[in-house]
Amino acid sequence: MSAAPLSSEPINSEPISSAPPPNWVASRHPLGWLINRLLAVQPLRWLLFQQARRLIIRTAEGRGIAWRQRREALRQAAEPLLAQSTDPAVAIPDYYRVRFHAYDAGNLCWAAACEAEQATDAMALRVWPEQPDLQPAAAQRRLRRAIFAAIEPSLAGPVRRALDLGCSVGVGTVALRDWLLERQAEAGAAAAAGSMETEAIPQVEGLDLSAEMLAVARVREAELRAAAQAAAPAASLAAPPAPITWRHGAAEATGLPSAAYDLITLQFVCHELPQAATQAVLAEAARLLRPGGVIALVDQDPDSAVIRRLPAPVATLLKSTEPYLEDYFGLDLPEALRQAGFHAVRRAAADPRHRVLVASR
Ligand SMILES: C[S@@+](CC[C@H](N)C(=O)[O-])C[C@H]1O[C@@H](n2cnc3c(N)ncnc32)[C@H](O)[C@@H]1O
Repeated sequence: MSAAPLSSEPINSEPISSAPPPNWVASRHPLGWLINRLLAVQPLRWLLFQQARRLIIRTAEGRGIAWRQRREALRQAAEPLLAQSTDPAVAIPDYYRVRFHAYDAGNLCWAAACEAEQATDAMALRVWPEQPDLQPAAAQRRLRRAIFAAIEPSLAGPVRRALDLGCSVGVGTVALRDWLLERQAEAGAAAAAGSMETEAIPQVEGLDLSAEMLAVARVREAELRAAAQAAAPAASLAAPPAPITWRHGAAEATGLPSAAYDLITLQFVCHELPQAATQAVLAEAARLLRPGGVIALVDQDPDSAVIRRLPAPVATLLKSTEPYLEDYFGLDLPEALRQAGFHAVRRAAADPRHRVLVASR
């Protein structure tokens, strides 16, 4: 499938920096102020979140995302996998134990984990609101393809080992693995035709602080593998892709070996981190990448006209469910990348809402 067009700044352009935060980030707009006051009252907040949730689920189901049905199926399949997805030695940072996305237990609960896939597909559909016939899977594919197309120019060679930090239920991790496999197959074909280096089979790992999310990721990976096997012709010689390694851990203290990775991605993670945590994660990524390795950060684009023009009520509700949004928009991420020891920082607008920052170690 072809990627969406990219506007990419060249590798050797002037050092790039982030746009100033959208006005709504610190705005005290009267309507926003009123909504904030209402949200401060617990029963009213509950009522408002319930209404917003109903609307989100109804809209998603209307677009072909089987939200509630999928939630129940995932929970049933994932619960038995919780123990094997949990590392009891992992220390959960305080900033993570807060309300996210209107879930009181944040990312540390089954509700969040079993609705993450549906929410991720709904997010992909929202990127192209002018295309009501777009299917969730196609929107997701388009979103990820544009991200990986933005990373490609910074990769000088094979990706043997990749790490997806903040992998959640693995939607982006599986897409990353599939892209790296295609990349490897293309390099293999080119090598067979000429003298190019053959790509090694990529090993892909996903790491997250939520054991519930990782249990769901395991279920999803197994489902996709079974579906691919069922769809493959019986005589197919193609080996199934290497399983993804799911790791329970904090992105800022992974305990993984130094200089071991060729590529590290953070897809839609930085907006969920306070600034000090983002800086710590970048320092950890710099340690984990080999010299010449590449990091890619995908998230909301402060330069996006859609993001900058969010209506006040929408922005206020968004801020009330995303505790570190102000931190995210207030941090100059290209500069933070340089401070962490990265160079050749590039920026690409992957779609109308999101940018990819790519940098080399
Ligand atoms: C919006 S989700 C990411 C979505 C996913 N990467 C994707 O592309 O679909 C953010 C994820 O980051 C994880 N996360 C947040 N802080 C983290 C940290 N310090 N270490 C590891 N994971 C973290 C959360 O548990 C959550 O699953």
